[in-house]
Amino acid sequence: TAVDAYSLSHLHPKSATTPSHDALEYAQTNAEQNGLPDIAVSTSQGKFLQLQARLARAKNILELGTLGGFSTLWLAHASPDVKVTSVEVDPHHAEVARANFKNAGVADRVDVRLGPGVEVLPKIAEEVKQGKHGKFQLVFIDADKENNWNYVDMALGMCEPGACIIVDNVVRKGQLANEGGDERIQGARRVVENIGKDARLDGVVIQTVGEKSYDGFLMAVVK
Ligand code: DHB
Ligand code: MG
Repeated sequence: TAVDAYSLSHLHPKSATTPSHDALEYAQTNAEQNGLPDIAVSTSQGKFLQLQARLARAKNILELGTLGGFSTLWLAHASPDVKVTSVEVDPHHAEVARANFKNAGVADRVDVRLGPGVEVLPKIAEEVKQGKHGKFQLVFIDADKENNWNYVDMALGMCEPGACIIVDNVVRKGQLANEGGDERIQGARRVVENIGKDARLDGVVIQTVGEKSYDGFLMAVVK
């Protein structure tokens, strides 16, 4: 946590505007006051996601699991003309997130789609197929962990070649290495194993420590 604080003081100083400290703090406080769980990505992780989006030259980003929109705020600042489609199952979370986007001045860059990912993704896929929505260059999956693989599989058809897919919380204090474990661990293991077997994807797990304890991202590139 001290390393996060030290690094951010230099790499995301108080004067930074992408997103501003005020917008991030508002989002965090608003989420907390509205009873949302404290499971958003950390500030460093948010910035990491934004940098990945910039490396991928992302203009269309797909996110599964908006929560209060903390990661979304980072992604929405990847470029002035980026569009983030963020899927959220909980109407209360979506309402809090929308207020956070409005406060940050990025409401026009974020489309929150309400409903379970497995129901909403086929609708977005249809829009992409009909040319009503561009293909995605970056996908961030941070929702119900049991469906991690289903989301990757569904997103694949909507991704441009070279797109980056990132799945949050696959390490869970090292439990990824253990057989058994709860549904969330099983969901993490399934997505790692299936990506490994899938010729369309090339992936890696990066373990993380810091403000949000010991966890990790799975990253994959769409061939
Ligand atoms: C949980 C979910 C998350 O997306 C996260 O970043 C941390 C924890 C959870 O469901 O416990
Ligand atoms: Mg998460």
